[in-house]
Amino acid sequence: MPECGYPNPVNPNMIGTAALFQVSSATNEPQQWRQLATTPCNDAVCRILVDLRIGWLTDLHLNFVPPRKRTAFYSQLRERDLDAILLGGDIGEADSVTQLLAEIERELQMPIYFVLGNHDFYRGSIAAVRDAVAAQAAASRWLRWLPASGVVPLTAATALAGHDSWADGRLGDFFRSEVLLNDYLLISELRGQEKRERYAQLNALGDQAAEFLERRACEALAGSNHVVVLTHVPPFRESCWHEGRISGGDYLPHFACRAVGDRLAAIMRDRPGKTMTVLCGHTHSSGTARILDNLIVYTGRAQYGEPELQRVFKLE
Ligand SMILES: [Fe+2]
Ligand SMILES: [Fe+2]
Repeated sequence: MPECGYPNPVNPNMIGTAALFQVSSATNEPQQWRQLATTPCNDAVCRILVDLRIGWLTDLHLNFVPPRKRTAFYSQLRERDLDAILLGGDIGEADSVTQLLAEIERELQMPIYFVLGNHDFYRGSIAAVRDAVAAQAAASRWLRWLPASGVVPLTAATALAGHDSWADGRLGDFFRSEVLLNDYLLISELRGQEKRERYAQLNALGDQAAEFLERRACEALAGSNHVVVLTHVPPFRESCWHEGRISGGDYLPHFACRAVGDRLAAIMRDRPGKTMTVLCGHTHSSGTARILDNLIVYTGRAQYGEPELQRVFKLE
């Protein structure tokens, strides 16, 4: 049992009934998960569960999208009759992310639960951007930056938690990898470091995310049967998709966070009567990974200049 300091009431009669995508509450049939997991969200199917409609977005990179196209995108989102947005990071860059968040809020006028991605710190610093975004969200009617929020109860059965996270270097072969992300050139905390120093920094950023998400996930599952974890970085090797395949050893250190994955998997192994759905991005390639019977990860796809809605989830 992870040392999370929260009670863990497990009711075996509740197995699977809170699953986000489960069609029937009478069974815990994994096939139902896979069926929905490998097809685009189908309104005819999802409407069975309609109560709360949540749109998931990730890696919008709106700084690369012309204003007119952004306006059209917001219009498309409004037409989907959503109740809330989950926004998974890489919204813009350090000099644009707060303006873009203000634009999203103004255009959508609904709760926007979000995390930041590595691009959101480009040409700035992690600390300064996080401070600015925390202040902006604290003063906002609609914006909720999840690292500064408590657990968000979405429905009676489902709660939301989230953190930006960071690729922690621990998957793949960091020291043989010749991948040099712009992160290491354009983010002040990571610039000019030797490889060993960078590895320690990435480890620390990943550990920070892991500790935060462990606490929040335990708290969420103490009161709910299902937790949605919104994050930017894939937490497992199996969720680090690149063009239909799992990323190789060169890229895994920079695109996945083992620290977060280890903690989330441990939590769910100890809670077989609960379910967790992780929503992430960062690799720009979509895929679904079932890590455990009660833990599934969706990775969103993205193309610069072409913002899109990943899925609409319905919660009962
Ligand atoms: Fe991205
Ligand atoms: Fe990213």
